[in-house]
Amino acid sequence: MKLLRFETIDSSNTYALKNFDELEDLTAVVADEQTAGRGRFDRTWVSDNCQNIYLSFVLKPEKKEYIANLTQYLSVVTAKIIETYNVKPQIKWPNDVLVNNKKICGILCESSLKNNKIQGVVLGIGINLNMPKNTIEEIEKMGRPATSLNLKLGKKVDKEEFLEKLLKEFYQNYDKTVEHGFEFIKEDYKSRIEFLNKTVYLQLRDGAPKEAVVAKDIDNNGNLIVLDSQGVAKTVLSGDIIL
Ligand code: BTN
Repeated sequence: MKLLRFETIDSSNTYALKNFDELEDLTAVVADEQTAGRGRFDRTWVSDNCQNIYLSFVLKPEKKEYIANLTQYLSVVTAKIIETYNVKPQIKWPNDVLVNNKKICGILCESSLKNNKIQGVVLGIGINLNMPKNTIEEIEKMGRPATSLNLKLGKKVDKEEFLEKLLKEFYQNYDKTVEHGFEFIKEDYKSRIEFLNKTVYLQLRDGAPKEAVVAKDIDNNGNLIVLDSQGVAKTVLSGDIIL
């Protein structure tokens, strides 16, 4: 397990994807600051050097069947580390981690393809550990409820300590998740979900219309089961929900 560190980089995900062939399996790429941090749905991810975490794992598992569940695994890992600070996070399907209904962590998983075959993934995560209040306010002005661990705790968070705990926890059960998929993390994941049986807004892509649905369950593959406005059950494989 290699740790590669950069002071400034465009995006740790972009770097890991560009250099995927040369980077060893399980390498963690960590940046203090990103000049072009990216989120899901082509959103930007605010990545100033504020002692936050900007990290991308290079993952090349032999068994690829459950690769899509690795984002959910990383959300569980992150929630567990946040809990060590006596803060109660929740997971918002598929892989956001929230505190007080506001986003504290986002995960972006991108595949590396060669001749149309998946070689592996770059699993990127940004965690707001030490955001200044005004930066959070700027993000919220864009209509994205956000928070940061320092604001919740009322003090600065030791980034190196958090990072060390996170890496240790991630590597600990990674092989089991690759082997067994969602089955292995199901309890840990579902026990941190708080929106089941509530009406939420489902958005399949950025800019797509938002549909009010009732979130019913997470199935054994980690997909979201919803009831649409007609009461018809649907399985959602990817998208976003707005609480
Ligand atoms: C989201 O939209 O919720 C996902 C945000 C992912 C941000 C992280 S920060 C490290 C890595 N590098 C990036 O450019 N993005 C991811």
